[in-house]
Amino acid sequence: MDEKSIYEHYTNDHEHIRRLLEQFQRLKTTQPFGAKQALTELRSALERHILWEERILFPWFDHKCAERNYSPTPAFKREHGQILIYLDDIARKVERGDFGTEEVEESLELILRLHNQREEEEFYSVLDKALNEAERGAVLEAMGRCQASISRLTPRDPFEDTPRQLQEAVEAACRLSCRCSS
Ligand SMILES: [Fe+2]
Repeated sequence: MDEKSIYEHYTNDHEHIRRLLEQFQRLKTTQPFGAKQALTELRSALERHILWEERILFPWFDHKCAERNYSPTPAFKREHGQILIYLDDIARKVERGDFGTEEVEESLELILRLHNQREEEEFYSVLDKALNEAERGAVLEAMGRCQASISRLTPRDPFEDTPRQLQEAVEAACRLSCRCSS
C-alpha cells in the first residue's frame, strides 16, 4: 500500500469503482464482451472494498471511537447489503444476455454516491485521526495481505459466489489487525 492515509486510499478506491461502473455503462450497447469484463472488475472491486471496510475498518473504528455517542457502521453495513443486491441484480440480468439494466444502475449510482460521500465526510478522516501511526500501518498491512490473496484469485467468473479463499484471506487479515489493536 503506497497511500499514506485511509482517507486517501479509500477515496481513490471510490473513484476507481465509479469509473468501472461508467465503463460498463459505456460499453454495454456496443461491446457486450467488454461490458461483461468491466462488470467482473466492478464486482471484484466493490466486494473487496466492502470486505476491507466491514472486516478491517469498522472493527477498528468501533474499538477506537467507542466513546462517541454514535457509530455510523451499522447504517454503512445496511447500505453495503443494498449495494450488493443491486450489483447482483445487474449481474443476473447480464448473465441472461439482458443489458436493460438502466433502472437498477440508477439505484446503484444513487446509493453509491450518497454512501461514499458520507464515508468520505464522516468516517475515514475520523479514523485516520483516531489511529496512531503503528495502528494505521497495521490496517494498511491487513489490507495489503487481503490484496495479495485476492489478486491470486483473479480473474474470476463474475457470477460465482465470493470464493471461500477470499473469505479466509480476509478473516486472517482481520485476526492480524485485531491482534495489532490490543
Ligand atoms: Fe462503504
